[in-house]
Amino acid sequence: MTGGLRKGLTSYGDAGFSLFLRKAFIKAMGYSESALDRPIVGITNTASDFNPCHGNMPDLIEAVKRGVMLAGGLPMVFPTISIGESFAHPTSMFLRNLMSMDTEEMIRAQPMDSVVLIGGCDKTLPAQVMALASANLPGIVLPTGSMVVGHYRGQLLGACTDCRRFWAEHRAGAIGNSEIEEISGRLVPSVGTCMVMGTASTMACLLEAMGLSLPMSATAPATHADRRRIAESTGRCAAELALSGQPKPCDLINQASVRNAMIVLQAIGGSTNGLIHLTAIAGRAGIPVDLALFDRLGREVPVLVNLKPSGAHYMEHFHHAGGMPALLRQLAPLLDLSAPTIAGARLADVLSQAEEIPGQDVIRPLTAPLSPHGAMAVLHGNLAPDSAVIKQSAASPHLMRHTGRAVVFDSVEDMTTRIDLPDLDVQPEDILLLRNAGPKGAPGMPEAGYLPIPRKLARQGVRDMVRISDARMSGTAFGTIVLHIAPEAAIGGPLAVVQTGDRIALDVEARRLDLLIDDAELARRLAAWKQAPPHRKPPRRGYARLFENSVLQANQGCDFDFLRGDGGTRKDF
Ligand code: FES
Repeated sequence: MTGGLRKGLTSYGDAGFSLFLRKAFIKAMGYSESALDRPIVGITNTASDFNPCHGNMPDLIEAVKRGVMLAGGLPMVFPTISIGESFAHPTSMFLRNLMSMDTEEMIRAQPMDSVVLIGGCDKTLPAQVMALASANLPGIVLPTGSMVVGHYRGQLLGACTDCRRFWAEHRAGAIGNSEIEEISGRLVPSVGTCMVMGTASTMACLLEAMGLSLPMSATAPATHADRRRIAESTGRCAAELALSGQPKPCDLINQASVRNAMIVLQAIGGSTNGLIHLTAIAGRAGIPVDLALFDRLGREVPVLVNLKPSGAHYMEHFHHAGGMPALLRQLAPLLDLSAPTIAGARLADVLSQAEEIPGQDVIRPLTAPLSPHGAMAVLHGNLAPDSAVIKQSAASPHLMRHTGRAVVFDSVEDMTTRIDLPDLDVQPEDILLLRNAGPKGAPGMPEAGYLPIPRKLARQGVRDMVRISDARMSGTAFGTIVLHIAPEAAIGGPLAVVQTGDRIALDVEARRLDLLIDDAELARRLAAWKQAPPHRKPPRRGYARLFENSVLQANQGCDFDFLRGDGGTRKDF
């Protein structure tokens, strides 16, 4: 046997001694010889006091361990980095690739035959699955699950769509200090991930559709008994993976499952971040995500899931309406149902088991969609030569074709300093533009693309304006907001040379975003930008330097250039 404890021996120049020493140390924990002869299932522990979205981690780990033991494996829990969205400076995206590297190397370094990845908060599942694809060890995903809904004066509340809605009301002066404090105590009523269709929910849904987690894994609430039962089943499945060695992650992350995930991303009203993460995950398996195909799918695939911010309901309602299997059944004519899943079944088998819930309004049929188009559109134009993205399902219909005067902010700091100044020259029909907030520019591409409506306009009742940037936006946010403009301003993308007062045209139907100046003038400005002194100082040391040197643009998933591809074939030591 070469698996279990015999796997990946520490190098002392004597394999027998390496195993002897390893066993001697693990016996300090009280394990018997027969326990140590079992196949080993690694379980990531991403609990952190800074990550309430993972607050149920101890319970889930216990349930996974139970499942592993029931199926004849030996569970071994190990820690990795954890990233709590609102606790990460400068932004969680800056740390996603670090978490991915940490997770990959710990999977490779420690003796395990399969692995259970438990994560949930926005960047954690992407980081873990990127790592899994690179390590290419059999593994299974277990999301921590969503929070239950909040209640406030008869309204249902969802983090963080309603965080933003109430904050906008507070900025406009409609909600006072004591009321906003009271609301902050109601928005997040339990541990778990945001219960709207934000990035965490989006990624959990995509990974279930790709067969990387068990059916209903994406939707069971964090505190529900279903979540623990799924955790136990996940542990059982992981023990079977450890015994059989199949399927490998790169058997599951293939052209068919990536295309299926793109369809699901459009149909759930998913987060724009989901596109970046899917691109990064697929890139690790050597599969390019075709943005033209994604956009075409957006014209064909309607939004079927009626969840905030595109719709009305919350993740627990999605779960009780039948979850992902029920959605996949509705999408069946569009999907490749031959795609394999982690438990050995084909996608067709999963959706044949879907529960039929009479009278539910959360998962719509193709004949009565929430919106006739998919969640997102991919834009091009002289302002976005490589691409930009808009979440059309959460945008204002009257702004989808709009020409306006640019009001330019040079950085997140500049925007924060000036956006609420009473003398800011801005009108409701202007286009707010934020730059130097992309992968290298900020750095880490913060979720600053949801530029606040200038306070003086908010007080006049303005609730949406066209906003464009090279930044990201929370999946929980709404508005007519163009994001992920590539190339970003910090590396000389055309966004860098827009001047306040220029006119910009957005036409979502035509998939265009253009600066209305002639080509010669644009070329002149870009040449002058290149000759200007360096626009910012690159970091001198540490992870920040690695990030600066290696991060790719949004249309390439913001992965590090040296991490893509490979698919577990590394033989460098
Ligand atoms: Fe963790 Fe929303 S803050 S999922």
